[in-house]
Amino acid sequence: MTYVLGLNAYHADAAACLVKDGGLVAAVEEERFRRIKHWGGFHSESIRYCLEEAGISLADVGHVAINSDSAANRWRRLAYALTSGVSPGYIIKRLRHRGDRADVAGNLRRALPDEKFTGTVHAVEHHLCHLASAFLVSPYDKAVAVSVDGFGDFSSAAWGLGEGGTLSVDGRVYFPHSLGVFYEAMTQFIGFPHYGDEYKVMGLAPYGEPAYVDKMKEIVRLKDDGSFALNLRYFRHASGEGANYSVKEGIPSGGRLWSDALSELLGPPRDPSAPLEDKHRDMARSAQVTYENAFFHLLGALHERYRTDALVLAGGCAYNSVANGKILERSPFKHVYVQSAGGDAGGSIGAAFAPWHKVEGDKARRHFVMDHAYWGPWATPEEIAVAISRRRADFEAAGCKIMRIADEATLCKRTAAAIAEGRVIGWFQGRLEWGPRALGNRSILGDPRRADMKDILNLKIKRRESFRPFAPSILREAVKDWFETDDDVPFMMQVFKIRPEKRKEIPAVTHVDGSGRLQTVTWAGNPRYARLIQIFGEITGVPIVLNTSFNENEPVVCKPEEAIDCFLRTRMDVLVLGDSFIER
Ligand SMILES: [Fe+2]
Repeated sequence: MTYVLGLNAYHADAAACLVKDGGLVAAVEEERFRRIKHWGGFHSESIRYCLEEAGISLADVGHVAINSDSAANRWRRLAYALTSGVSPGYIIKRLRHRGDRADVAGNLRRALPDEKFTGTVHAVEHHLCHLASAFLVSPYDKAVAVSVDGFGDFSSAAWGLGEGGTLSVDGRVYFPHSLGVFYEAMTQFIGFPHYGDEYKVMGLAPYGEPAYVDKMKEIVRLKDDGSFALNLRYFRHASGEGANYSVKEGIPSGGRLWSDALSELLGPPRDPSAPLEDKHRDMARSAQVTYENAFFHLLGALHERYRTDALVLAGGCAYNSVANGKILERSPFKHVYVQSAGGDAGGSIGAAFAPWHKVEGDKARRHFVMDHAYWGPWATPEEIAVAISRRRADFEAAGCKIMRIADEATLCKRTAAAIAEGRVIGWFQGRLEWGPRALGNRSILGDPRRADMKDILNLKIKRRESFRPFAPSILREAVKDWFETDDDVPFMMQVFKIRPEKRKEIPAVTHVDGSGRLQTVTWAGNPRYARLIQIFGEITGVPIVLNTSFNENEPVVCKPEEAIDCFLRTRMDVLVLGDSFIER
């Protein structure tokens, strides 16, 4: 038996996964245990969990693979450092950081002092990991693999061809050019300063007009070979300034990426506390359009080069579900796959699968497809019962009724009826989702038919920006009746247009431009969730529920205790924990 432990460490979204003989056993982000969003650094809890799930110790793990190789692109890095005028202090800081990163075995020993590791460490280049994380777990035997990102190992994008168990890296975009950095700089400029705020710009974009697109052509230049380059006048990262990305006590943050020239071009930036105005909406729309233009320029060139119709995507920009949703319409590709953790956490999957193929050589036939996202921790019925009984006094004080409903159909009927009455449900089932999206195991559910559901959710639990849409989970077989595109979207990685005549029926999950970031639910992928949605459909005629992540300004809940805490401190109406139905 060959075990490979895959890691994304030392920066945001630290994560671990375990692969056994070429099949995934477990995968989870460290933030779910530490309870700090995007937790970075070297992680112990997610590694411990992966070992526990497999019932093994670190001594049984033959290979540990990390999605970063400090030796990668070394000559380019050196040449850049010598010719670009980057400050020497910055270079020394980066080199020191890199030394610490190289000692994976030492960090493992320190993080898990009670375990022993005698296997081999593999440092796998960042973008190869991204490409592998998409292709090697995809349903395709042959596909074009594309990674678009901020930066990792001195490059920001890469592409190649996957065939069987092999994967080539045929092209790259190197530092300091990066579409991810462009989007992040615009996110900061529009007044969203936190790591990972890009999705807010994506949500805001449809409210604006693409008024700044011509100006942004100055910032991102499209090249004849399909790739792109930044006009560095508008950025600070190329000189080391503003590139001072760091992780302090697990919390990642980045410096200001844009230069004063950007405010000369676009006008003043928005202060995070200032109200959003039309010009900010227009900037968001223009940034999204600029990103899409560069993305489809690249995809067009790659299809021309490889003449293959399947595409797999990874890297931070793979979370741009709006752009992903237009791939079938705006590029010649006919099939798309993005795994549930498309970003850096997901790189751990590529790190683990790539060496397995190398280590096992010809034996390493691909047999694993990631067709669901449920790879994280779970709770036994006994653990759930203990967690509930520990908080019995709090439940009583909140006036809650607790029932155990062992029959699944009855449980789903009861829950579906509560949703249809406009109540807000915390739904905790099975294994935690891998990746940032709650996909029906750690979800808050609501009625998509109610125009006021968004306000109810924001008032009771979420308190998030009013412009951000909520997402629909829909039975796979119903997609063609409700959406203009009929395709699988198991991980909410694509946004499709809702059929115009249906939009008024599901206002709570219809974005301002008539789109929805759907999750297509299958009976094989998540039978209990499919059943719930089917019963909701029988009651209401709408085989769709509103699905948002089970959390309140924190990482998605992992354990029953955290779900109970979240339920009790918010104004959620019902909590379904496994077979237990708790209502206020
Ligand atoms: Fe990355």
